[in-house]
Amino acid sequence: MTPTRPVGDNAAARGRGATRRGFLFGGAAAGVGVAAGVALAGTPALAADPKPDSTGVNGSRTVAFHGTHQAGIETPVASYVTYLALDLHREVDADGLRRLMKLWSDDAARLTAGTPALADTEPHLAEDPAGLTVTFGFGPGALDRAATSKRPSWLRPLPAYDIDKLEERWSGGDLIVVVSADDQVPMAHATRMILKDGRGFASLRWRQDGFRRAYGSQPGGTTMRNLFDQVDGTANPRLGTPDFDTVVWATGDDWMAGGTSLVLRRIEIAIETWDEVDTVGRENAIGRTVTTGAPLTGTAETDEPDFEAIGPHGFPVISDVSHVRRAHHHFTGARIFRRGYNYDLGPTPGADDSVVSNTGLLFASYQADVDAQYVPIQEALAKADLMNVWTTPIGSAVFAIPPGCAEGEYVGQGLLG
Ligand code: HEM
Repeated sequence: MTPTRPVGDNAAARGRGATRRGFLFGGAAAGVGVAAGVALAGTPALAADPKPDSTGVNGSRTVAFHGTHQAGIETPVASYVTYLALDLHREVDADGLRRLMKLWSDDAARLTAGTPALADTEPHLAEDPAGLTVTFGFGPGALDRAATSKRPSWLRPLPAYDIDKLEERWSGGDLIVVVSADDQVPMAHATRMILKDGRGFASLRWRQDGFRRAYGSQPGGTTMRNLFDQVDGTANPRLGTPDFDTVVWATGDDWMAGGTSLVLRRIEIAIETWDEVDTVGRENAIGRTVTTGAPLTGTAETDEPDFEAIGPHGFPVISDVSHVRRAHHHFTGARIFRRGYNYDLGPTPGADDSVVSNTGLLFASYQADVDAQYVPIQEALAKADLMNVWTTPIGSAVFAIPPGCAEGEYVGQGLLG
């Protein structure tokens, strides 16, 4: 049985009718009780759905679209995600991009509140949004169209790494839309509305779908397991803390202040050969135990790893080339906020019967500055990490995620307004 670990970011603050700022400022448990629609300083909040939830039904829960930051990042992680990357049509200029962002922001504000989009032909599908969030971002191509000199220096493809086997069909994009919820019906509807309203401006480049445990399967706050069977997400900054602010949100006085960056890597996992590795080998590769996710030098998931500890045979208890040692800020000097989702496409019918999986991780990382935070960690892992034996990055994209907007405004207004 999977042990209960109420420390992760995934479902910690799920609660009926709670607002996003409630989660941030009230903390996980306290946020649940925050009154619907309360607007905190500088952050207008949409009214949360007041429907009763006495049966444990989750669908009526809303997450405010408007706010200082976009929703879907410092909000408790939902069970499902759909990433949509789009390329702008050749003729779309700054004015076109502005119109698109106005349209999309309006759609997202309505749908995340559980109300139909304008001219919604399937309005009932918007009901019960189950914590739906829609997050928008700009790739390098969108900044070209915005014809701006105010371009984050890190907004470009990541450097090439020897471990990469990148495929065009999972990489790049002018725009990203991240649709997430605890229920795939409102997600399917929101995805369709976004694509429908966007089709005059942009075409779908790729779509990637990911999942975690379904809402209610595990106690709130349980850290997710990836499909390697590892507890994944423990060392993340906690939502609503100053630590999170420092790691994730861009500062300054330009259009990105209050925004962040998203690095999305599609990482295939070689589960067939991982199957052949015993527990000792698995734990040595990551530096944590399989059962609880505790560091090999500790007993509880949240124990700090002791990288100095030496085992009975004179070797470090946590291997020099284990994933957590190589990724730890003690060695890289950098931190990121990870929000991974599993993907599983299944084997190709008719192909080699010995391969029964096509699976991996949609590895999403948010940080204020890609070059200063993500790249040093990725470089360290690309040079040496036992997990590289079983992982292959096959997709990669970098996006600027603008700050949130107030009611009546649109995402990206600081850049395009
Ligand atoms: C399929 C690929 C990957 C898998 C399965 C994986 C899995 C894990 C696991 C199980 C942990 C330990 C628990 C935790 O703190 O979350 C971890 C930690 C971590 N991973 Fe990964 N990871 C992958 C790729 C990456 C990549 C691409 C990066 C960044 C470039 C990264 C950065 C980190 C960091 C920063 C930590 C925390 C280290 C610490 O401070 O203890 N991981 N990862």
